[in-house]
Amino acid sequence: MTTQVTLIPGDGIGPSISNATVRLLAAAGADIEWDSQVAGMAGVARFGDPIPDATLDSIKRTKLALKGPLETPVGEGYRSINVALRKTFDLYANVRPAYSILPGGRYENLDLVLIRENTEGLYVGVEHYIRVGDDPRAAAESMAIITRAGSERIVRYAFEYAVKHGRKKVTLVHKANILKFSQGLFLDTGRMVARDYAGSIEFEERIVDAMAMNLVLHPERFDVICTTNLFGDILSDQISGLVGGLGLAPGANIGANGAIFEAVHGTAPDIAGKGVANPGALMLAACMLLDHIGQTERAKRVRRALEQTIREGKTVTRDLGGNASTEEFTDGIIAKL
Ligand code: NAI
Repeated sequence: MTTQVTLIPGDGIGPSISNATVRLLAAAGADIEWDSQVAGMAGVARFGDPIPDATLDSIKRTKLALKGPLETPVGEGYRSINVALRKTFDLYANVRPAYSILPGGRYENLDLVLIRENTEGLYVGVEHYIRVGDDPRAAAESMAIITRAGSERIVRYAFEYAVKHGRKKVTLVHKANILKFSQGLFLDTGRMVARDYAGSIEFEERIVDAMAMNLVLHPERFDVICTTNLFGDILSDQISGLVGGLGLAPGANIGANGAIFEAVHGTAPDIAGKGVANPGALMLAACMLLDHIGQTERAKRVRRALEQTIREGKTVTRDLGGNASTEEFTDGIIAKL
């Protein structure tokens, strides 16, 4: 059955890596019908809005999107793209897998997934200054809001992800020893959810500072990691670093009302229009989309072809140590399908 997916090619290198990804998926026989929409600067150019209603309407209809990197316009009066998407589709789970593809890296055979709570914690935007005497900004307060419902759905998502993807263990990362109320609620709720999976998925707890060290010393000990917003933001980039940086890092934002898949990197303005961008991260994001819609065998084939091409190293882009163009790299992967 054909699945309709909203495609947002994006800004900078976005259109070029999106074209490459769409071409690869077509070659792999993916049953997808793309509804191409604009956002970012392309949205401003066409509709005066970085996240036009037509784009939101398309995702409301398809409930699925593949998104290239977007440039956030500077200046007042523009809606924040990420906030609009997160709010409209209640994208509560940020999923960031990291596994070793590049040979010769510091760690071989890593295969981790970090699941970050995306809507609560210190990022809720409840902040204010406090006046002391005649200094209006003598102090500042930022509120970390954690709810039982929000904690339960993210930890449950992590366990369900583990079950669906044949993974063995969920590590819950927290700082409940110091933040006894907010992080304590997250930990208590996590422990409760974990009981439902006892005997099928292993559960462990780690304090975030010890976790940061352990990820460097023994990353192979971890499998699925679940944590709150700020810690997830930091640790997800850390695990990308363990496998060679953001160049091959995909991400998914999953919500009650939709799922949006993207490359973690930005629009790369320094190389935009030169035809040398690495489309790998967006291709891996597209594989997450294929998994999500049940086309898992196709996702496996695409990943295998991409991995072989990178390990061979003959037709890879500059950032991977080669001199192939985006298109030549894509042709190389298609030839291996
Ligand atoms: P960036 O990720 O665009 O670039 C950082 C460096 O990595 C640059 O040297 C770039 O050439 C390189 N790079 C990134 N992706 C690459 C690829 N696929 N192939 C080869 N090289 C690649 O980060 P930067 O420069 O901080 O941000 C540029 C713009 O992107 C900003 O407007 C920012 O707001 C936006 N951005 C958007 C994101 C999104 O929509 N998800 C995420 C991050 C940044």
